[in-house]
Amino acid sequence: MHLFDKYSIRDVTFRNRIFVSPMCQYSSDDGMPNDWHFVHLGSRAAGGAGLVLVEASGVSPAGRITAWDSGFWSEEHAAAFRRIAAFVEARGAVCGIQLAHAGRKASTDVPWRGGHVIRDGPNAWKPVAPSPIPFRDGDPIPHELTVDEIDEIVEQFVRSTRLAHSAGFRVVELHMAHGYLLHEFLSPLSNERTDEYGGSLENRMRFPLRVAERVRQAWPDELPLFVRISASDWVAGGGDLPQSIEFAKCLGALGVDLIDCSSGGAVLGAKVELGPGYQVPFARAIRAEAGIATGAVGLITEPKQADDIISSSSADAVLLARELLRDPYWPLHAARALGVDVPWPEQYQRAKT
Ligand SMILES: Cc1cc2nc3c(=O)[nH]c(=O)nc-3n(C[C@H](O)[C@H](O)[C@H](O)COP(=O)(O)O)c2cc1C
Repeated sequence: MHLFDKYSIRDVTFRNRIFVSPMCQYSSDDGMPNDWHFVHLGSRAAGGAGLVLVEASGVSPAGRITAWDSGFWSEEHAAAFRRIAAFVEARGAVCGIQLAHAGRKASTDVPWRGGHVIRDGPNAWKPVAPSPIPFRDGDPIPHELTVDEIDEIVEQFVRSTRLAHSAGFRVVELHMAHGYLLHEFLSPLSNERTDEYGGSLENRMRFPLRVAERVRQAWPDELPLFVRISASDWVAGGGDLPQSIEFAKCLGALGVDLIDCSSGGAVLGAKVELGPGYQVPFARAIRAEAGIATGAVGLITEPKQADDIISSSSADAVLLARELLRDPYWPLHAARALGVDVPWPEQYQRAKT
C-alpha cells in the first residue's frame, strides 16, 4: 500500500490516505461556521487531501473549549455546515467532523490570547469533569458529573451525529483524546470516581464506550466512524499503550472503523518524547494488536516519511495538522515528490508542470 492508493471503509472511498487532522480555528460565534471555515476547509480539499476533518465541534455550548469553538447542537449549525461539506466533497475529498466535549478544559480563552481560563462574563461557564479536580492548580473546580448528566451528554453526542449526517458529512470522529471529557473518564489521572464510571479500566471505559455504541447506532451503517484517542498519557500511572490496545479492541467490537492515534493532554508536566513521527509506534501497535485500522498523526511532514508509514503497514492513513496549515496543497506537492500523477484542480492546471 502507498500514500496515494485509494482507501475504502464501508461505502466511502478516500482518494488517498492523507487526512486533514482536526484543527480548532476559534473563529465561530455560537458555534457557527462562517466564511473563514469555508475557505480554510475548502482550500485543503482543493489541495488534494483524501479526508478533510472539521475541527473539534462541541456537542453542546458547555462542550466547547472556548466560546469561539465550532459547535454542532442545532439545525442552524447543520444548515451552515452543509455548504462547506458540499464544497469539500465537490472537490473530491470526503468531508468529516470531529465531535467533542471539552470537559474540565472548557471555558478558556483562545490560544493567541494566552488560552487561560475565563472565570466570569459572557464567555465563561462552569466546566464539568468525572471528578472535581481542576486541570491546573488554582483553576476553578469543575462540576463532578452525575449519572443523569452523563446520560444527557451521551444523547448530545447522538444529536450531533444525526445533525452531522443531515449536513452531508460522511465521517464522524469522536474526540476521546487530549484530556477532554471522554479521555478524562478513561485516564486514572483525572478520574477518581467510585461509582460504575470510575476505578477499574472497565468502569473508566464505560462512558466513552456508551458514546461510541450510541453514535454507531445513530450513524448510517454505510459510513465510517473514527475515534481519536490519546494512546499514552506519558505519565507513570496514567493511560498507556496496553490500556489503549484494550480500549481499541472494545471500540472495534462496537463498529468503530479507525483509531486515530494521538497522545498526551491528560495532565501538565507529562514527558512527551517528541520527534518526527513520534506517535507512529502507537498506530502500528494498535493496528497489529487490536486488529483495527489506525491513523498516524504527529510531526509527519515529509512525503517519503508519510509514504513509509503506509507502506510499512504502520497505519492505514496519515493525519497532518500543522504541515497542512503551512501548505494547503501539500498532497499535490507530495504526489509530485513521490512521482505519482494526481489531478490538480482544473483551474490550476497551468501551474502543474
Ligand atoms: C491549530 C491547531 C488546532 C488543533 N485542534 C485540534 C482539534 O480540534 N482536535 C484534535 O483532536 N486535535 C487538534 N489539534 C492537534 C492536531 O490535530 C494534531 O494532532 C497535532 O497538531 C499533531 O500533528 P502535527 O504535528 O501534524 O501538527 C490541533 C492542532 C493545531 C496546530
